[in-house]
Amino acid sequence: MKIALIGSNGQLGTDIMKYFEDRGEDIAGLTQDDIDVCYQDKCETVLANIKPDLIINTAAFHQVDLCEDEVEPSFAVNAGGVKNLCKICQEFDIPLMHFSTDFVFGADSERRIPYDEDDCPGPVSLYGISKLAGEYIIKYMLKKYYLIRACGLYGHAGSMVKGSNFVELMIKLAEEGKEIKVVNDQVLTPTSTKDLTEKLYELIYTGKYGLYHMTNTGECSWYDFALEIFKLAELSPDISPITSAELAAKAKRPAYSVLDNKNLRALGLKDLRPWKEALKDYIDSRP
Ligand SMILES: NC(=O)c1ccc[n+]([C@@H]2O[C@H](COP(=O)([O-])OP(=O)(O)OC[C@H]3O[C@@H](n4cnc5c(N)ncnc54)[C@H](OP(=O)(O)O)[C@@H]3O)[C@@H](O)[C@H]2O)c1
Repeated sequence: MKIALIGSNGQLGTDIMKYFEDRGEDIAGLTQDDIDVCYQDKCETVLANIKPDLIINTAAFHQVDLCEDEVEPSFAVNAGGVKNLCKICQEFDIPLMHFSTDFVFGADSERRIPYDEDDCPGPVSLYGISKLAGEYIIKYMLKKYYLIRACGLYGHAGSMVKGSNFVELMIKLAEEGKEIKVVNDQVLTPTSTKDLTEKLYELIYTGKYGLYHMTNTGECSWYDFALEIFKLAELSPDISPITSAELAAKAKRPAYSVLDNKNLRALGLKDLRPWKEALKDYIDSRP
């Protein structure tokens, strides 16, 4: 199987590229210099040369606060770019693997049980709305797709657009002796891009298309996540919990956006390991 991977130098893309290459897969990595999903014709030329049997798209405009102001560019990538890839998948009659987010949820502010794939989305930010638009476009245009909702990603490459990831940011602030304040009223499941990569690889070989939640298991607030990072990294910074209201970020975030990997389990695939185990693995293997 020939695979074209878009965003191969991103946080998730870097892990996918390495994992698939290590298993001898025929994978062509594409950075934004090679392909911009916003331009249909150029995408078609590049992908026609590769002749993939599967396109994996990790490209996104996911600076959540910036999306509130930069609506057009965020929709250009998260919805328009997805539409361009769907059109190519239709023409080549191949499947698309695409990544969405827990931020398609959050409208139910009282909710405190995990969302499964049958729950109705309700985003609370323009980022979430743009990613949900991408989801609807895939479902509208394609029959063959793996649509994966992830949550709280961290990987050794770090997020390209954010310059780092939450784990590295916390460790850096602690090592610099900075006072750290972290929100304690947003609950998620931190998820390792390494674990996500292993599971999506398994999913591809089932050939079972559809919508999948794919996160490590368990849940915590961003504050609890930070405490666990410091415990594992043996750091003792000056840290205190704050509320989302105190942080006053531009975009609203879900108070609770834990995902239940119900559809993966229904395929007979093993759940991902608990988030604390994955985090320990990440911290132990930091370069
Ligand atoms: N990070 C999270 O916590 C999180 C949580 C849930 C879901 N997700 C989803 O998971 C996916 C991967 O996230 P990530 O953390 O790996 O992101 P990332 O590190 O920012 O990687 C995104 C990649 O996409 C490329 N890209 C951006 N715009 C593009 C365009 N117009 N055309 C082609 N390539 C483009 C970037 O290239 P450049 O570096 O050149 O810009 C980068 O290589 C995204 O769909 C995101 O929405 C992420």
